[in-house]
Amino acid sequence: MKPATRVFSGIQPTGNLHLGNYLGAIRNWVAMQDAHESIFCVVDLHAITVAQDPAVLRRGIREMTAALLASGLDPARCILFPQSAVRVHAELAWVLMCTARVGWLNRMTQFKDKAGKDREGASVGLYTYPVLQAADILAYKATHVPVGDDQKQHLELARDIAAKFNNDHGVELFPLPEPVIEGPATRVMSLRDGTAKMSKSDPSDASRINLTDDADSIAQKIRRAKTDPEPLPSEIAGLAGRPEAANLVGLMAALTGRSAAQVLGDYGGQGFGQFKPALAEAMVAAIAPITARFNELRHDDVALDAVLAAGAERARAIAEPVLAEVHRAVGFRD
Ligand code: TRP
Repeated sequence: MKPATRVFSGIQPTGNLHLGNYLGAIRNWVAMQDAHESIFCVVDLHAITVAQDPAVLRRGIREMTAALLASGLDPARCILFPQSAVRVHAELAWVLMCTARVGWLNRMTQFKDKAGKDREGASVGLYTYPVLQAADILAYKATHVPVGDDQKQHLELARDIAAKFNNDHGVELFPLPEPVIEGPATRVMSLRDGTAKMSKSDPSDASRINLTDDADSIAQKIRRAKTDPEPLPSEIAGLAGRPEAANLVGLMAALTGRSAAQVLGDYGGQGFGQFKPALAEAMVAAIAPITARFNELRHDDVALDAVLAAGAERARAIAEPVLAEVHRAVGFRD
Protein backbone atom coordinates (compact mmCIF):
# COMPACT_ATOMS: atom_id res chain seq x y z
CA MET A 1 0.00 0.00 0.00
CA LYS A 2 1.24 3.45 -0.83
CA PRO A 3 1.93 5.42 2.35
CA ALA A 4 0.08 8.71 2.70
CA THR A 5 3.25 10.50 3.63
CA ARG A 6 6.89 9.70 3.20
CA VAL A 7 9.47 11.90 4.83
CA PHE A 8 12.93 12.46 3.38
CA SER A 9 15.70 14.75 4.54
CA GLY A 10 19.45 15.08 4.24
CA ILE A 11 22.34 16.55 6.18
CA GLN A 12 25.91 17.17 5.15
CA PRO A 13 28.60 15.12 6.90
CA THR A 14 30.85 18.11 7.35
CA GLY A 15 31.65 19.49 10.78
CA ASN A 16 30.19 18.69 14.13
CA LEU A 17 26.54 18.98 14.93
CA HIS A 18 25.70 22.09 16.92
CA LEU A 19 22.63 23.18 18.79
CA GLY A 20 21.29 24.96 15.69
CA ASN A 21 21.29 21.71 13.69
CA TYR A 22 19.76 19.85 16.60
CA LEU A 23 16.90 22.24 17.43
CA GLY A 24 16.38 23.36 13.84
CA ALA A 25 16.38 19.99 12.10
CA ILE A 26 17.40 16.82 13.88
CA ARG A 27 14.87 17.07 16.67
CA ASN A 28 12.11 17.30 14.06
CA TRP A 29 13.49 14.26 12.30
CA VAL A 30 13.42 12.28 15.51
CA ALA A 31 9.81 13.28 16.10
CA MET A 32 8.85 12.28 12.56
CA GLN A 33 10.24 8.77 12.56
CA ASP A 34 7.32 7.48 14.62
CA ALA A 35 4.58 9.33 12.80
CA HIS A 36 5.71 8.66 9.19
CA GLU A 37 7.79 6.40 7.03
CA SER A 38 11.06 8.34 7.26
CA ILE A 39 14.25 8.28 5.24
CA PHE A 40 17.32 10.26 6.35
CA CYS A 41 20.47 10.64 4.33
CA VAL A 42 24.02 11.72 5.07
CA VAL A 43 24.66 13.65 1.88
CA ASP A 44 28.27 12.93 1.05
CA LEU A 45 27.77 13.59 -2.67
CA HIS A 46 26.71 17.11 -1.77
CA ALA A 47 29.73 17.49 0.50
CA ILE A 48 32.21 17.19 -2.39
CA THR A 49 30.72 20.19 -4.20
CA VAL A 50 33.45 22.00 -2.25
CA ALA A 51 36.95 20.62 -1.62
CA GLN A 52 37.14 17.84 0.99
CA ASP A 53 40.03 15.95 2.47
CA PRO A 54 39.13 12.27 1.88
CA ALA A 55 40.14 11.09 5.37
CA VAL A 56 38.22 13.95 6.99
CA LEU A 57 35.15 13.22 4.88
CA ARG A 58 35.31 9.51 5.71
CA ARG A 59 35.46 10.38 9.43
CA GLY A 60 32.73 12.99 9.02
CA ILE A 61 30.27 10.48 7.54
CA ARG A 62 30.66 8.18 10.52
CA GLU A 63 30.61 11.04 13.06
CA MET A 64 27.44 12.49 11.60
CA THR A 65 25.88 9.03 11.71
CA ALA A 66 26.89 8.67 15.36
CA ALA A 67 25.50 12.14 16.14
CA LEU A 68 22.18 11.36 14.46
CA LEU A 69 21.84 8.07 16.32
CA ALA A 70 22.82 9.79 19.58
CA SER A 71 20.14 12.42 18.95
CA GLY A 72 17.50 9.72 18.76
CA LEU A 73 17.24 8.47 15.19
CA ASP A 74 16.54 4.77 15.45
CA PRO A 75 17.37 2.50 12.49
CA ALA A 76 14.48 0.29 13.55
CA ARG A 77 12.09 3.19 12.97
CA CYS A 78 13.68 5.03 10.04
CA ILE A 79 16.06 4.46 7.15
CA LEU A 80 19.46 6.10 7.66
CA PHE A 81 22.10 5.79 4.95
CA PRO A 82 24.92 7.56 3.10
CA GLN A 83 23.95 9.09 -0.23
CA SER A 84 26.91 7.69 -2.20
CA ALA A 85 25.89 4.11 -1.30
CA VAL A 86 22.73 4.44 -3.39
CA ARG A 87 23.69 5.11 -6.99
CA VAL A 88 20.16 6.16 -7.89
CA HIS A 89 20.84 9.65 -6.46
CA ALA A 90 23.56 10.45 -8.98
CA GLU A 91 21.78 8.72 -11.87
CA LEU A 92 18.45 10.42 -11.26
CA ALA A 93 20.23 13.76 -10.82
CA TRP A 94 21.50 13.44 -14.39
CA VAL A 95 18.02 12.95 -15.79
CA LEU A 96 16.67 15.83 -13.70
CA MET A 97 19.51 18.09 -14.88
CA CYS A 98 17.91 17.68 -18.27
CA THR A 99 14.56 18.76 -16.79
CA ALA A 100 15.76 21.74 -14.73
CA ARG A 101 16.45 24.99 -16.59
CA VAL A 102 19.61 27.09 -16.38
CA GLY A 103 17.43 30.09 -15.56
CA TRP A 104 16.02 28.30 -12.52
CA LEU A 105 19.47 27.52 -11.15
CA ASN A 106 20.67 31.05 -11.81
CA ARG A 107 18.14 32.24 -9.23
CA MET A 108 19.45 30.02 -6.40
CA THR A 109 20.69 32.32 -3.66
CA GLN A 110 22.65 29.62 -1.83
CA PHE A 111 24.90 29.12 -4.86
CA LYS A 112 25.56 32.85 -4.97
CA ASP A 113 26.38 32.87 -1.26
CA LYS A 114 28.58 29.78 -1.35
CA ALA A 115 30.39 30.63 -4.57
CA GLY A 116 31.09 34.14 -3.32
CA LYS A 117 33.02 36.45 -5.58
CA ASP A 118 34.75 33.70 -7.55
CA ARG A 119 31.72 32.24 -9.30
CA GLU A 120 33.76 31.14 -12.30
CA GLY A 121 35.98 29.11 -9.99
CA ALA A 122 33.12 27.27 -8.25
CA SER A 123 32.59 23.59 -9.12
CA VAL A 124 29.83 22.70 -11.56
CA GLY A 125 28.60 20.41 -8.77
CA LEU A 126 28.06 23.41 -6.50
CA TYR A 127 25.95 24.98 -9.24
CA THR A 128 23.85 21.86 -9.80
CA TYR A 129 23.69 21.05 -6.07
CA PRO A 130 19.94 21.81 -5.89
CA VAL A 131 19.20 19.36 -8.72
CA LEU A 132 20.95 16.58 -6.81
CA GLN A 133 18.90 17.62 -3.80
CA ALA A 134 15.72 17.28 -5.89
CA ALA A 135 16.91 13.82 -6.99
CA ASP A 136 17.42 12.83 -3.33
CA ILE A 137 13.83 13.68 -2.55
CA LEU A 138 12.18 12.46 -5.74
CA ALA A 139 14.05 9.11 -5.81
CA TYR A 140 11.83 8.15 -2.87
CA LYS A 141 8.71 9.96 -4.06
CA ALA A 142 8.93 11.77 -0.73
CA THR A 143 5.92 13.89 0.15
CA HIS A 144 7.35 15.83 3.11
CA VAL A 145 10.80 17.28 3.61
CA PRO A 146 11.76 18.70 7.00
CA VAL A 147 14.36 21.42 6.46
CA GLY A 148 15.63 24.66 7.90
CA ASP A 149 14.17 27.80 6.37
CA ASP A 150 17.35 28.41 4.34
CA GLN A 151 16.32 25.42 2.20
CA LYS A 152 12.90 26.80 1.15
CA GLN A 153 14.18 27.87 -2.25
CA HIS A 154 15.72 24.47 -2.96
CA LEU A 155 12.42 22.82 -2.07
CA GLU A 156 10.55 25.14 -4.43
CA LEU A 157 12.99 24.07 -7.14
CA ALA A 158 12.42 20.38 -6.36
CA ARG A 159 8.69 20.97 -6.76
CA ASP A 160 9.22 22.78 -10.05
CA ILE A 161 11.43 19.96 -11.34
CA ALA A 162 8.90 17.31 -10.27
CA ALA A 163 6.05 19.18 -11.94
CA LYS A 164 7.97 19.77 -15.17
CA PHE A 165 9.12 16.15 -15.36
CA ASN A 166 5.56 14.89 -14.88
CA ASN A 167 4.26 17.37 -17.42
CA ASP A 168 7.00 16.83 -20.04
CA HIS A 169 6.52 13.07 -19.97
CA GLY A 170 2.77 12.96 -19.46
CA VAL A 171 3.06 10.99 -16.23
CA GLU A 172 2.05 11.36 -12.58
CA LEU A 173 5.33 9.95 -11.43
CA PHE A 174 6.55 12.36 -8.77
CA PRO A 175 4.42 13.82 -5.98
CA LEU A 176 5.23 17.48 -5.33
CA PRO A 177 7.23 17.47 -2.09
CA GLU A 178 6.17 19.82 0.70
CA PRO A 179 8.74 21.53 2.90
CA VAL A 180 8.10 21.09 6.61
CA ILE A 181 9.63 24.05 8.38
CA GLU A 182 8.81 23.87 12.02
CA GLY A 183 10.05 24.02 15.55
CA PRO A 184 10.12 27.15 17.70
CA ALA A 185 13.88 27.49 17.28
CA THR A 186 14.15 26.79 13.54
CA ARG A 187 16.61 29.63 13.42
CA VAL A 188 19.09 29.41 16.24
CA MET A 189 21.35 32.45 16.13
CA SER A 190 24.99 32.92 17.07
CA LEU A 191 25.71 33.55 20.74
CA ARG A 192 28.03 36.38 19.68
CA ASP A 193 25.69 38.07 17.20
CA GLY A 194 21.92 37.68 17.39
CA THR A 195 21.54 38.59 13.72
CA ALA A 196 23.77 35.77 12.34
CA LYS A 197 22.78 32.12 12.21
CA MET A 198 24.58 29.72 14.54
CA SER A 199 27.03 28.06 12.18
CA LYS A 200 29.79 25.49 12.15
CA SER A 201 31.87 27.82 9.99
CA ASP A 202 31.88 30.75 12.42
CA PRO A 203 35.55 31.18 13.41
CA SER A 204 34.54 31.81 17.03
CA ASP A 205 33.73 28.57 18.88
CA ALA A 206 32.04 30.73 21.53
CA SER A 207 29.35 31.57 18.94
CA ARG A 208 27.88 28.06 19.04
CA ILE A 209 27.05 25.18 21.35
CA ASN A 210 28.47 21.97 19.91
CA LEU A 211 26.76 18.71 20.72
CA THR A 212 30.16 17.61 22.05
CA ASP A 213 30.50 20.51 24.53
CA ASP A 214 30.60 19.47 28.18
CA ALA A 215 28.52 21.07 30.90
CA ASP A 216 31.28 23.51 31.89
CA SER A 217 31.86 24.86 28.43
CA ILE A 218 28.11 25.18 27.85
CA ALA A 219 27.77 27.18 31.06
CA GLN A 220 30.75 29.32 30.09
CA LYS A 221 29.48 30.03 26.58
CA ILE A 222 26.06 31.02 27.90
CA ARG A 223 27.63 33.22 30.58
CA ARG A 224 29.66 34.99 27.89
CA ALA A 225 26.85 35.14 25.34
CA LYS A 226 26.27 38.64 24.03
CA THR A 227 23.29 40.42 25.57
CA ASP A 228 22.11 43.94 26.19
CA PRO A 229 21.93 45.66 29.58
CA GLU A 230 18.11 45.68 29.87
CA PRO A 231 16.19 43.12 31.93
CA LEU A 232 14.00 40.66 30.03
CA PRO A 233 10.63 42.09 28.97
CA SER A 234 7.46 40.41 30.13
CA GLU A 235 5.86 40.50 26.66
CA ILE A 236 7.09 39.28 23.27
CA ALA A 237 6.77 42.79 21.83
CA GLY A 238 9.55 43.89 24.18
CA LEU A 239 12.01 41.65 22.32
CA ALA A 240 11.80 43.77 19.17
CA GLY A 241 15.20 45.21 18.29
CA ARG A 242 16.89 42.92 20.83
CA PRO A 243 18.12 40.02 18.69
CA GLU A 244 20.42 38.52 21.34
CA ALA A 245 17.71 38.56 24.00
CA ALA A 246 15.21 37.11 21.52
CA ASN A 247 17.64 34.31 20.64
CA LEU A 248 18.25 33.31 24.25
CA VAL A 249 14.53 33.38 25.04
CA GLY A 250 13.84 31.31 21.91
CA LEU A 251 16.47 28.81 22.99
CA MET A 252 14.96 28.50 26.45
CA ALA A 253 11.54 27.97 24.88
CA ALA A 254 12.79 25.31 22.47
CA LEU A 255 14.79 23.47 25.10
CA THR A 256 12.02 23.32 27.66
CA GLY A 257 9.06 22.83 25.32
CA ARG A 258 7.45 26.15 26.17
CA SER A 259 6.44 29.15 24.09
CA ALA A 260 8.56 32.32 24.20
CA ALA A 261 5.59 34.05 25.83
CA GLN A 262 5.58 31.48 28.63
CA VAL A 263 9.33 31.91 29.11
CA LEU A 264 8.85 35.67 29.41
CA GLY A 265 5.96 35.07 31.82
CA ASP A 266 8.44 33.25 34.06
CA TYR A 267 11.53 35.43 33.58
CA GLY A 268 10.18 38.85 32.54
CA GLY A 269 11.73 41.61 34.65
CA GLN A 270 14.77 39.51 35.52
CA GLY A 271 18.25 40.38 34.33
CA PHE A 272 20.48 38.08 32.30
CA GLY A 273 22.46 37.38 35.46
CA GLN A 274 19.49 35.34 36.64
CA PHE A 275 18.28 34.07 33.28
CA LYS A 276 21.56 32.77 31.92
CA PRO A 277 22.24 30.15 34.61
CA ALA A 278 18.70 28.81 34.16
CA LEU A 279 19.24 28.64 30.41
CA ALA A 280 22.60 26.89 30.82
CA GLU A 281 20.98 24.35 33.10
CA ALA A 282 18.19 23.62 30.61
CA MET A 283 20.74 23.31 27.84
CA VAL A 284 22.96 20.89 29.71
CA ALA A 285 19.92 18.78 30.62
CA ALA A 286 18.97 18.54 26.94
CA ILE A 287 22.44 17.95 25.53
CA ALA A 288 24.31 15.86 28.11
CA PRO A 289 22.55 12.57 27.27
CA ILE A 290 23.19 13.13 23.55
CA THR A 291 26.87 13.87 24.14
CA ALA A 292 27.25 10.78 26.30
CA ARG A 293 25.72 8.52 23.65
CA PHE A 294 27.68 10.20 20.86
CA ASN A 295 30.94 9.54 22.70
CA GLU A 296 30.00 5.88 23.09
CA LEU A 297 29.16 5.46 19.42
CA ARG A 298 31.59 7.67 17.54
CA HIS A 299 34.53 5.27 17.42
CA ASP A 300 32.50 2.12 16.88
CA ASP A 301 33.11 2.06 13.14
CA VAL A 302 31.90 -1.53 12.80
CA ALA A 303 28.52 -0.74 14.32
CA LEU A 304 28.15 2.56 12.44
CA ASP A 305 29.06 0.99 9.10
CA ALA A 306 26.57 -1.82 9.73
CA VAL A 307 23.77 0.70 10.36
CA LEU A 308 24.66 2.57 7.17
CA ALA A 309 24.93 -0.57 5.03
CA ALA A 310 21.57 -1.87 6.21
CA GLY A 311 20.00 1.54 5.62
CA ALA A 312 21.45 1.74 2.11
CA GLU A 313 20.00 -1.61 1.23
CA ARG A 314 16.53 -0.54 2.33
CA ALA A 315 16.92 2.78 0.51
CA ARG A 316 17.91 1.03 -2.73
CA ALA A 317 14.84 -1.18 -2.51
CA ILE A 318 12.68 1.96 -2.70
CA ALA A 319 14.72 4.11 -5.08
CA GLU A 320 15.65 1.57 -7.77
CA PRO A 321 12.05 0.91 -8.88
CA VAL A 322 11.48 4.68 -9.04
CA LEU A 323 14.52 5.09 -11.30
CA ALA A 324 13.18 2.26 -13.48
CA GLU A 325 9.90 4.19 -13.83
CA VAL A 326 11.88 7.28 -14.78
CA HIS A 327 13.83 5.33 -17.38
CA ARG A 328 10.57 4.12 -18.87
CA ALA A 329 9.10 7.60 -18.89
CA VAL A 330 12.05 9.09 -20.78
CA GLY A 331 12.30 6.18 -23.25
CA PHE A 332 15.43 4.35 -22.10
CA ARG A 333 13.54 1.08 -21.70
CA ASP A 334 10.11 -0.52 -22.12
N1 TRP B 1 20.91 21.08 1.15
C1 TRP B 1 20.53 20.57 2.44
C2 TRP B 1 21.20 21.45 3.51
O1 TRP B 1 22.22 21.99 3.29
C3 TRP B 1 20.95 19.14 2.63
C4 TRP B 1 20.18 18.23 1.72
C5 TRP B 1 20.69 17.53 0.69
C6 TRP B 1 18.80 17.92 1.79
N2 TRP B 1 19.71 16.78 0.09
C7 TRP B 1 18.56 17.01 0.75
C8 TRP B 1 17.76 18.35 2.63
C9 TRP B 1 17.28 16.52 0.50
C10 TRP B 1 16.48 17.84 2.38
C11 TRP B 1 16.26 16.95 1.32
O2 TRP B 1 20.69 21.52 4.59
